[in-house]
Amino acid sequence: MTINILVTGGAGYIGSHTAKLLSSRGFVPIVYDNLTTGHQSSVRWGPLVHGDILDTDRLAGTMAEYEPKAVIHFAASAYVGESVENPSKYYRNNVIGTQSLLDACHRTNVGEIIFSSSCATYGVPPVLPITETTPQNPINPYGRTKLIAEQMLQDYAAAYGMRYVILRYFNACGADPDGDLGEWHDPETHLIPRALLTAAGRIPHLPVFGNDYDTQDGTCIRDYIHVSDLARAHVLALDYLVRGGDDLAVNLGTGRGSSIRQILETISRITERHVAIKLHSRRPGDPPALYADPTFAQQALRFSAEYSDLDTIVRTAAPFFGLEARV
Ligand code: UFG
Repeated sequence: MTINILVTGGAGYIGSHTAKLLSSRGFVPIVYDNLTTGHQSSVRWGPLVHGDILDTDRLAGTMAEYEPKAVIHFAASAYVGESVENPSKYYRNNVIGTQSLLDACHRTNVGEIIFSSSCATYGVPPVLPITETTPQNPINPYGRTKLIAEQMLQDYAAAYGMRYVILRYFNACGADPDGDLGEWHDPETHLIPRALLTAAGRIPHLPVFGNDYDTQDGTCIRDYIHVSDLARAHVLALDYLVRGGDDLAVNLGTGRGSSIRQILETISRITERHVAIKLHSRRPGDPPALYADPTFAQQALRFSAEYSDLDTIVRTAAPFFGLEARV
């Protein structure tokens, strides 16, 4: 018997890597995506339903047709800077879009949900590393929309008997080690792909946003987690829900913070290419340092990162930008 899983946003970066892994584990990913940021060519492991999450009737119709065992809800807008300039888009897609999805689930009795949240819900944490009980005080509209969606999911679950796992990602990066998929945003704003585009000569220089932070080398620290590790965490969360596990909210990081300088050094060493940089002032809304306490993910889901050392991240991502990993 085939088990269908509805994957909203399954044509996107993390969604497509997860769809591939689901398929290799015997599930059929039913991708539901409006293709505004996702790519049709990344949907190769199950059918594509071209639809918008704001269209509750179409979502409910898709659920009635495919009878998914669970939903993995990736579809969202995810640029912090854009969320400050255009909050309307973020409240519509991330808050109303999630409500539309949950209403469709309620209508069709789909009761198991895995939700893509973010460490952006924590804002500037009072202490590091960030645990699941660190207060959630987001500092930008993107983080606020993800926090509201988490709370909505908790309320729907309590009232309508749904069950959920909330996954709070740290910095997703890297690419499928088989080379089938990669990171492909337009515009590209993320550090690692932009640095690789610079190394490949497709951007003249990388702006480095601030070298005067109170960190070891003055640049911002983030917890970079490989997209294949994130994909595996979704499959573990699915197994957990199917086995009847209680509702959970889990941080997905490595527990290790890396600075922008460390990333650039790794890229130069692995690709043997220079990354030209230009120092800029701080980017508004950037917390100085964010990294996860990975203990709970290990206890609750038996998850630990395997591909998330910086060398593997760069080695898997580089070919996607036409660069050879030489070391
Ligand atoms: N950075 C640069 N130059 C660039 C791009 C980024 O110096 O050209 C810096 C940023 O200022 C930041 C670090 O590199 O200090 C990482 O920036 P990213 O844009 O790659 O990632 P963010 O941490 O800002 O945000 C990402 C996702 C969010 C998510 C967050 C979780 O875009 O959706 O990770 O930490 F919420």
